[in-house]
Amino acid sequence: MQGMPFFSCEDLSLNLGGREVLRNISFDLREGEVLGIIGPNGAGKTSLLEILSGRFRPKTGKVYFEGRNISDLSLFERARLGIGRTYQTPLVPEELTVGETFKAARQAYEPWLTRFDAEYGAQLVRFRVPYDRPTTSLKTFERRKLLMATLLMRHPKMLLMDEPAAGLINAEIDEIDQILRMLSKEMNVGIVIVEHRIELLESIADRVVVMDAGEIIAQGELADIIDSEAVRAAYFEAH
Ligand SMILES: Nc1ncnc2c1ncn2[C@@H]1O[C@H](COP(=O)(O)OP(=O)(O)O)[C@@H](O)[C@H]1O
Ligand SMILES: [Mg+2]
Repeated sequence: MQGMPFFSCEDLSLNLGGREVLRNISFDLREGEVLGIIGPNGAGKTSLLEILSGRFRPKTGKVYFEGRNISDLSLFERARLGIGRTYQTPLVPEELTVGETFKAARQAYEPWLTRFDAEYGAQLVRFRVPYDRPTTSLKTFERRKLLMATLLMRHPKMLLMDEPAAGLINAEIDEIDQILRMLSKEMNVGIVIVEHRIELLESIADRVVVMDAGEIIAQGELADIIDSEAVRAAYFEAH
């Protein structure tokens, strides 16, 4: 394990529907680090998370976690190792209440968790909706928090988050920022966060990877790369 980064990917490429969607993607992450992945729509950010989480198999490349090659592990096996994933659209289970959703999540795989674990997850994200409410009645922010609570109750070591601020208003985004900062700085959770708006990463990302058309065009500290020629061309002038 020594000398190996906490999490890394190496030379990932992916084809979808006969098109090359990702090419030559490599980066690493330290424990407790927040790495932002930015890039215009269609850059391949979500496809990259699909590979890192184990839902898609890449055409080439490897993924490593805690000194181990996890490239052949499924989404479920990676979740068991402590890699949590959130989605761009917060899909909650239909026809379940909040309490039933927590119960299903507690019993999703062994060891089954207790109500106290669920309560712990809920508290971390300050989720305060009554347990008898149907999940379909929740607003976007509450849905995102509910799904995060169900992940956090298993004490993940790292999170892969796809646009967690999408559909939220500024005060809600600030709260998500605070939660992510607490998870990384106080609980040492490594976070890969996809976001297409650069300004939202300024306050939380230690480093960023900039993607365009399936490739990494820059990576480093946000302040250092924001003025780079390549980033400007791909990012700002396209908008
Ligand atoms: N299932 C699919 N089949 C074919 N092309 C896809 C599929 N999913 C995504 N793509 C294409 O892959 C590219 C990257 O998409 P995506 O990873 O969703 O980008 P981002 O999350 O950065 O907006 C886009 O051009 C998109 O149209
Ligand atoms: Mg996306």
